[in-house]
Amino acid sequence: MWARHPFELISNPSATRAAAYGPEQVEVLSAEGLARAKEIICAWPGYAPTPLVALPGIAQAAGVASVHYKDESERFGLKSFKPLGGAHAVARLLIRQIVATTGNDGITVHDLIDGKYKDICAGITVTAATDGNHGRSVAWGARMFGCRCVIFINEAVSQQREDAIAKFGATVRRNPGSYDDAVRTAQQTAQREGWHVIPDTSDGSIVEAPRDVTQGYALMAAEVIEQLPGDSPPTHIFLQAGVGGMAAATCAEFWQHFGVDRPTTILVEPETSACWFESLKAKEPVAIKGNLDSLMGGLSCGEVSRLAWTILKPGADAAMTIPDEAAADAMRLLAAGACGDAPLVAGESGVAGLAAFLAVSANDAARQKLALNLSSRVVLFGTEGATDPQAYADIVGRSEEEVADEQK
Ligand SMILES: Cc1ncc(COP(=O)(O)O)c(C=O)c1O
Repeated sequence: MWARHPFELISNPSATRAAAYGPEQVEVLSAEGLARAKEIICAWPGYAPTPLVALPGIAQAAGVASVHYKDESERFGLKSFKPLGGAHAVARLLIRQIVATTGNDGITVHDLIDGKYKDICAGITVTAATDGNHGRSVAWGARMFGCRCVIFINEAVSQQREDAIAKFGATVRRNPGSYDDAVRTAQQTAQREGWHVIPDTSDGSIVEAPRDVTQGYALMAAEVIEQLPGDSPPTHIFLQAGVGGMAAATCAEFWQHFGVDRPTTILVEPETSACWFESLKAKEPVAIKGNLDSLMGGLSCGEVSRLAWTILKPGADAAMTIPDEAAADAMRLLAAGACGDAPLVAGESGVAGLAAFLAVSANDAARQKLALNLSSRVVLFGTEGATDPQAYADIVGRSEEEVADEQK
């Protein structure tokens, strides 16, 4: 019933399904870390859990028991799950800086929001590299808490995405090369200028801020666990991966909550930038070189985050690559309200998990490999809405407003 796109699927040779969530993983993401993130994020104006939408029509057509879709298209009005990470890490950094300056270790997020230490915050500059959404999140957090912000973008980031970052008062600098090159430039510039870098990835040299970013993402998975109907855990989660922070946070949360009963976890990447696919296959991080460009810009990364590696090397069960056209088709399918389900606005990177699930569902060998069948309960993470409205309209043929109107 949907176009068959080519894909690649491998099992992760390092997966340790029966293993407990161990101390190495707790070092990266923990229940305490989530509780802290929740306290900070839930205090921001406008916080509300995003909807978990049932897609019974797609479930039936795909031959599974249920499909639930976590719709991040309206998170804090930023149209993606990303504010949970970047802005959370900005808040944590500022609290640490205020504690160091004042010697008062009782600083809370409310002190930040109330502007109690606004003079200290105004003297701090945060910086990050981004392919769009992370930079928007850091810039939004910087504006909310009153610090300065400089964001590095790479050549391929669209003007609309650049404008969306600048709207929050950040200075935006365009850097030659890829996302991974921009990460290095942000890090070097921060060192030179005395700024604080908030990366969403880690090569092992900086861990505190990327851990705060990833820990914030875990709130999205925690919301899903609370929202899921019934007592049975999902059987499959398809997680799109760029550097792997979102997938690691989600895998970690389900692992801690459901233990050995956790769902089969499948990582999904564009075929042009499959660093997780290649790294899991090689059992060690492998950097992808060359042209990484993909329609799925948020997933267009050539190097895995070492923090995410600690979780996903043992925690992911499989990895997949998909072509751009599979994502474009999935966007159109959701916009059309396929199979009688409600129409949904979803962006290029946001639909990668859905696109991969649809590809597997229509392929007998892949279904068997992943034990996907009529009893399967699938959860997908719609990690962005129309973050680039022009690109969305070009792909879907209608504006996000027109699609949203049909939801009513
Ligand atoms: C919409 C969207 N989904 C998923 C991801 C992947 O997240 P990560 O890079 O943490 O793997 C990104 C990253 O920018 C994104 O923007």
